[in-house]
Amino acid sequence: MTDSRDPALTVRRILKVNHAGEFGAIRIYGAQIFIARWLFPDIVSKLEEMRDDEIDHCRLFRDAMPARGARPCRIMALWSLGGFVLGFLTALCGQNTIWICTEAVESTVHRHLGEQLRFLQKRDPDLHALILSIQEQELAHLTEAENSQKHRGTMRKVLLPIIGGLTDLMIWLSTWGDSSWMRAEMARDTLAG
Ligand SMILES: [Fe+2]
Ligand SMILES: [Fe+2]
Repeated sequence: MTDSRDPALTVRRILKVNHAGEFGAIRIYGAQIFIARWLFPDIVSKLEEMRDDEIDHCRLFRDAMPARGARPCRIMALWSLGGFVLGFLTALCGQNTIWICTEAVESTVHRHLGEQLRFLQKRDPDLHALILSIQEQELAHLTEAENSQKHRGTMRKVLLPIIGGLTDLMIWLSTWGDSSWMRAEMARDTLAG
């Protein structure tokens, strides 16, 4: 069965969700930094560095939009609020929870970027190159979050799937389900060899 979806539409949705996601990440780190200044000043500079990367990513995705006819997500306010609340609550639970939250979000983002990369390789090489360079930094954030955890217990087991699931849901909603369609499309490509 062939799917008649226009790949250009998916490219626009990729940009839209990535831009919104980076904005959400800026807000997560912002809330974490806000709490960490009071409670865990030692990790503030690390968090600020990571937030600076997200600010760069957000700008890069925004800059890539006009040439592809893409526009920012209409529910940016939800990404903003969701990001802030998530960052705020997890930071209140403690330093370790900050890193669990970061691990959950960054690993979900990393997986989605991987799927996008496979989709874009032949369809939009410029955007592919941009996402590849961004994915490298997201991987560094993920590694940092994993290495910064002082212990791995029940909290991590419980929170990873919840936060990862919420991130997945936001991505799915913002792409009108394209995140699952892309996965199916990639599986078809692989089968077709
Ligand atoms: Fe990012
Ligand atoms: Fe990141």
